[in-house]
Amino acid sequence: MYIKRIILLSSAAALLFCGAAGAQTLTLRLKEAQKDVSPMLYGLMTEEINYAYEGGLYAQLVRDPQVKELVQPQRGQSGPVRPRYWELSDPDGATMTLRQNEAHVNYRNNSLLVEARRSGAALLNRGFWGMAVRPATTYQGSLYAKGAGSLTVSLVSTDGGTVYASQRVSGLGADWRKFEFRLATGAAFAPTKDAMLRIAFDAPGTYQLTRVMLFPPSYKGHGLRSDLMELMAGMKPAFLRFPGGNYLEGNTFHERFDWKRTIGDVNFRPGHQCPWGYWSSDGLGLLEFLTWIEDLGGEPILGVFAGYTLNRDYVEGEYLEPFIQDALDEIEYVIGGPETKWGGQRVRDGHPAPFKLHYVEIGNEDFFDRSGSYQGRYMQFYKAIKAKYPQLQIIASTSEQQFYDGGVMDRRDLQLDIVDEHYYRNTLGMYRAAFQYDSYDRNGPKVFCGEWASREGEPTTNLNAALGDAAWMACMERNSDHVIASCYAPLFVNVSEGAMQWRSDLLGYDALSAYGSPSYYAQCLFAQYLGDKILPVSAEGIPTFTADDREGGELPQIYYTATMDSKSGRIYLKLVNAVGTPQTVKLAFDGKRPVRDIKKVEIAADDPLATNSIDAPTAVVPVESVVRLRKGAVTLSPYSITVLEF
Ligand code: AHR
Repeated sequence: MYIKRIILLSSAAALLFCGAAGAQTLTLRLKEAQKDVSPMLYGLMTEEINYAYEGGLYAQLVRDPQVKELVQPQRGQSGPVRPRYWELSDPDGATMTLRQNEAHVNYRNNSLLVEARRSGAALLNRGFWGMAVRPATTYQGSLYAKGAGSLTVSLVSTDGGTVYASQRVSGLGADWRKFEFRLATGAAFAPTKDAMLRIAFDAPGTYQLTRVMLFPPSYKGHGLRSDLMELMAGMKPAFLRFPGGNYLEGNTFHERFDWKRTIGDVNFRPGHQCPWGYWSSDGLGLLEFLTWIEDLGGEPILGVFAGYTLNRDYVEGEYLEPFIQDALDEIEYVIGGPETKWGGQRVRDGHPAPFKLHYVEIGNEDFFDRSGSYQGRYMQFYKAIKAKYPQLQIIASTSEQQFYDGGVMDRRDLQLDIVDEHYYRNTLGMYRAAFQYDSYDRNGPKVFCGEWASREGEPTTNLNAALGDAAWMACMERNSDHVIASCYAPLFVNVSEGAMQWRSDLLGYDALSAYGSPSYYAQCLFAQYLGDKILPVSAEGIPTFTADDREGGELPQIYYTATMDSKSGRIYLKLVNAVGTPQTVKLAFDGKRPVRDIKKVEIAADDPLATNSIDAPTAVVPVESVVRLRKGAVTLSPYSITVLEF
């Protein structure tokens, strides 16, 4: 049945706004038992994917400072292995040879050996699809070098014609030494990403370099890109789930997120291969994850490696024990006092105060583990963590059903605290699932929806995806007495050609600019108007539409959730209009004072494929207005997400 008029009605006291007998009504019951909204409901999930950190959030501009990304000679051909992201300005002026795994300061490393035949011959690094240069900005750089004499380090245009900033680095000698430099740009040019780093050799001779790094000013000086941090701040994230995702597990044991190798001086972090096909310098390591969410006012949800890798290799029993100790050490690094071994290390690394931590997740997506080993691995971690940190809540990375199926574990022996569920669907799939949590058994484990997304649009999602997302968030929010936390994935994508491994992401950027997708703005709205009490809404007369995908069926046109801020008494009613026609919704409010003017914030467009991009970053954004209700009715725009505040 297709009915355009829908009435939202509160308690009996509000019937003055209701239509004639027999009208279709959507009822908002303000006086029913009010459960709490979880304050942890909206957070962030992150991992190294789509150049999320390298060439993304981690502000360091030089690509592959460790010279780890190499080009092998073609099959059947001989020739040297070459660095992929380092080149010579003039191949006749110098030669460049890769030196692999040589002793360097206090660890082994790759480096570049350059024989300069003439002064001015230079090494070039083009950054991550460009290098952003801004006017009146000071860039802090460092490199390790040895050789003859001096170098000149510059930020230059990609054609070499414009020098934005330059500094001489002198005093190179026979032994490796670290040199620091500052590149300060002038005021008279427009920001550009068409720039690169040039390291020119001031005289002919032999030079060796590695660990060349360059940082622009960063968010709170903590090494992360300000534009991306500011976008995330708009989401008011309660937490950050890290370090993955697949990035936690790695393809092999050697490539897991081995947190101890990601702390301390960035120059001495070995880096590792990430499962999404490129090298991570680990400049964004454990401490940077922790300060990232601290700087945004939230807390970590810490994923610990659980002895299982993406190639399905795993360890159990006594072989798992070193990994359990690693997890205990990691928790100690996060919350331990200065007197503890790893808490003391955190203090030495520059963060004296312990971080907040309430949740630890054992593994990632162990619902994919077909070895049947998760229950045993989980129990080993669970017992060890609870014994030392009974205050922590433990999250299982599998469903309740999978955990108990097969009889390895019995509910009577262990009730899971929280389970992590992941949902990647299209928008129709989200609409279909938008009532899923209404019927979840409240006696079962709490739910953390640790990865979810409506996957429509690429590289970042479009309005249609945001509509599906909003319907799904409405479902989680209505049920946030049970769904205690949720986070979208993936968070980031570098939109430059060749950078994306996973289509449909939340925030897009290139070397210079960043923007939020419509899905991003939907999340900002939901988090901003969160409230702390859930108001049950009972709905009648919701029109339906016929889904045109393989599953078909009738789906509601309108999705909704209502919450209240108990301090201010404000009510937030969130509505999603999934179709391309306007919908008139009749409202009635609880209490004696009828409301005429209400605040309305809306994300809408005529075309559900409408989206944002680097060139049009704000094509689809929330629009705020005050609307005067006419006979208690408000109109929802076609394809819209609306928050009404009253
Ligand atoms: O978010 C992308 C990937 O999806 C994550 O790495 C993994 O956990 C999931 O399969």
